[in-house]
Amino acid sequence: MPNIQIAPSILNSDLTRLAESLRMLEQAGADYVHLDVMDGHFVPNISIGVPVVASIRRATSLPLDVHLMIDAPERYIEAFVEAGADILTIHVEATVHPHRALQLIRERGARAGLAVNPGTPVSALTELLPLCDLALVMSVNPGFGGQQFIRSSLGRLEAVRAAIDAEGLQTLLEVDGGITIFNAAGAVDAGATVLVAGTAVFGGDGVEAGVQALQRAVARG
Ligand code: DX5
Ligand code: ZN
Repeated sequence: MPNIQIAPSILNSDLTRLAESLRMLEQAGADYVHLDVMDGHFVPNISIGVPVVASIRRATSLPLDVHLMIDAPERYIEAFVEAGADILTIHVEATVHPHRALQLIRERGARAGLAVNPGTPVSALTELLPLCDLALVMSVNPGFGGQQFIRSSLGRLEAVRAAIDAEGLQTLLEVDGGITIFNAAGAVDAGATVLVAGTAVFGGDGVEAGVQALQRAVARG
């Protein structure tokens, strides 16, 4: 059984207390910090940008899992790698040249991720798997935290898992959106190895409790 990793999203955390949140994530045993970058074009919302990513880089030793929800992400790949992104994920819908963008991310020294929205055929992602260190299946329409998990994402995860295994790749398979202690094990059964969680970590009884409850939900006896 692969090791299941937790990537808490700080999108809906109290951003005036970022340093404290990062410390709590480290203590809780989170595997990454998931950073949601939104431009108000690709998605309706605007969130954080390069300077915030760079500040977070200086404030934590956790790997940064940067999720770009921006149009034409190739324009910003160098800036985000320079800012400290360990994994840099672009959306297949956001560029006409995802192949070139993924190559550029690797060339610049980060791990390359490719995301698909719920309405995009997963073949758009599986076609490019050899260029991906991480495949991201969105389980909500991106733009906001706190949305409900779309159940058909499970079949989509299974399809991507099958493609990863058929090609003998080590690609991480991440799921993002609406993950809770109640559906996390199902996502893992469908093949996910990295769980993004915003509300489940920052919207409950404490960050540490939130991370550990997810870890327990996917732990195998
Ligand atoms: C949605 C973002 C997610 C989101 C997750 O556009 O990509 O990372 O913050 O938040 P929850 O877990 O609340 O759905
Ligand atoms: Zn995200």
